[in-house]
Amino acid sequence: MDPIDYFTEENSADVVIARIKNANDKRLAAVMEVFVRHLHAAVKEIEPTYDEWERAIGFLTATGQICDDKRQEWILLSDVLGVSMLVDAINTRRPEGATENTVLGPFHVEDVPHREMGSSISDDGKGEPLYASGRVVDVEGNPIKGAVIDTWQASHDGFYDNQQPDVQPEHNLRGIYKTGADGRYFYRSIKPCYYGIPKDGPVGKLLLGLNRGNTRPAHLHYIVSAPGFETVTTHIFVNDDPYLTKDAVFGVKQSLIGNFKHHDDVEKAAKLNVSNPYWSVEYDFVLTASQQN
Ligand code: BEZ
Ligand code: FE
Repeated sequence: MDPIDYFTEENSADVVIARIKNANDKRLAAVMEVFVRHLHAAVKEIEPTYDEWERAIGFLTATGQICDDKRQEWILLSDVLGVSMLVDAINTRRPEGATENTVLGPFHVEDVPHREMGSSISDDGKGEPLYASGRVVDVEGNPIKGAVIDTWQASHDGFYDNQQPDVQPEHNLRGIYKTGADGRYFYRSIKPCYYGIPKDGPVGKLLLGLNRGNTRPAHLHYIVSAPGFETVTTHIFVNDDPYLTKDAVFGVKQSLIGNFKHHDDVEKAAKLNVSNPYWSVEYDFVLTASQQN
């Protein structure tokens, strides 16, 4: 028998990869080949003790066990390891000037109320008023009519409505708006706060063990879509946030930092239907034509 058939420390990856050569699913085989090669290289570099290997298995087990229909610890792990942002970058290579993607995160919900342009997404009125506006345009700057802007954000003290069902009204700080022929959007809200991603599970323990923070800088979430255009999943980050360079999930991009301005102007506030003083942010979403066109 060819000695290559027997597993040794030296040939370990080759022996495992040889067993998947006949896979019917060629993409699965290609993915697993790369995975096995890198995994074996990592194990050889780490040289884990039995105890360390058991701890790793325990971590993976706990990560799976804490998942349910509301909690996705595997995605959180992918987020804190920068893998979510990497997959996003690979899948959303866009021309210069187009709005960049960033992480979706676990707090988006479906079936959110459509709101009238200009109305407020703050149903409890808590926090510093914010007037958010801008346009949805194509890469040439032409307004996009009928673009749908799905937005959600954390509260003034850093919680989403679905994290505080007994404190915030359902759908607080969430809304869907549709642009008219001018591509403009404008709505009222409150300035969001930075917040911590869940740290009560295995991913939180991992961050703690690595002396890494779990904070995300303050941001507004958006999914912007329009027929014939690529959907953009993104954020506008608050420019004065102390955690911009320490985002636990690596979601910040320079182009996504909004120019939040503070205003103390009673007349202007009255015109915009916000109470004074207030914040404003103006940001244009630039969409690229979808591949099918
Ligand atoms: C968020 O921004 O909502 C988020 C993103 C990744 C992990 C946790 C939260
Ligand atoms: Fe968020």
